[in-house]
Amino acid sequence: MIGFKLLIKSIIKNIPGIEKIINLHKSTGGTDEARYCYSIWLRHLCLAHKNGFKIPSTIAELGPGDSLGVGIAALICGADKYYALDVVKYWNKEKNIKIFEELADLFKKKENIPGPDEYPRVKPDLDNYEFPIQILTEKHLKKMLNSKRLDSIRNALVNPNEDKGKIVIKYFIPWNDTNVIIPESVDMIYSQAVMEHVTELNHSYESMYKWLKPNGFMSHTIDFKSHGTSGRWNGHWTYSDFEWKFITGRKKFLINRAPHSTHMHLLNKNGFKIIRDIKTTLNSGIQRKKLTVKFKDISNGDLSTSVCFIQAVKRSPMN
Ligand SMILES: C[S@@+](CC[C@H](N)C(=O)[O-])C[C@H]1O[C@@H](n2cnc3c(N)ncnc32)[C@H](O)[C@@H]1O
Repeated sequence: MIGFKLLIKSIIKNIPGIEKIINLHKSTGGTDEARYCYSIWLRHLCLAHKNGFKIPSTIAELGPGDSLGVGIAALICGADKYYALDVVKYWNKEKNIKIFEELADLFKKKENIPGPDEYPRVKPDLDNYEFPIQILTEKHLKKMLNSKRLDSIRNALVNPNEDKGKIVIKYFIPWNDTNVIIPESVDMIYSQAVMEHVTELNHSYESMYKWLKPNGFMSHTIDFKSHGTSGRWNGHWTYSDFEWKFITGRKKFLINRAPHSTHMHLLNKNGFKIIRDIKTTLNSGIQRKKLTVKFKDISNGDLSTSVCFIQAVKRSPMN
């Protein structure tokens, strides 16, 4: 049942025209801090490297949020094309430039990766938070951090969506059409705390398959928690579709409530081979008998998986 506070919030969110009075999509949280972006990018990169992937040249990110900072960190490390796909444009040029300068500084200083002491809720965890000098070697960093290259990144941030310089940054907001990105042109697609919000999940995985080059790979952290819609971390699975529609109100998206196994199924169905699946589990949630009809048969694994980190590679159509 919907609690009193959530009921009031939901009534407000359902008032016709409310989205014109209050901004229902104010900000997203993490990527307005350079250290957060640095930490996220290096976590995805380190785990990709463990699976044998090189620093990608062309990257695409779903849901960058408050800044393009995670993509900027990837550009500083060696990528030269970055595509950002979101449904709301939260960021602005000034914020991106500020985060870029701070990120360049962090890489110049070879700062360790901010870990659980600084970002306790961020996943995935790493075994080692030291600067990954085995991936970003002195020689590589010298090339990537030269002032001409950094100027190219700065220019691309000032003039995004131009295809002129050595560095290209393009954004697609909102993106609905798979054709926004050329098929088989991307080396790596990643997201952080986004896939739980995506309304058209199958369409998104299908599009990502099309965008990736053969053997291209993906890296996603997915947070299955209730995002403030319940006092219990997995209480969102107790609401009927009717209650859920009311809770969502006029927001363009909230969370899609898809559990871990739905993502696994869609990844397999859309041609991906899962090569890493790190689950964080919590046993403190709701009792099974409280689940709404739609979710009553979810596995115990789904019911206790609060976050997962997935890396997957594009299978060739023959496999
Ligand atoms: C919780 S925020 C995470 C932002 C950022 N990745 C971070 O780590 O802070 C979720 C983001 O997903 C975006 N989003 C929601 N639906 C999306 C979709 N269908 N495609 C791309 N991004 C989407 C939201 O607009 C928002 O920027």
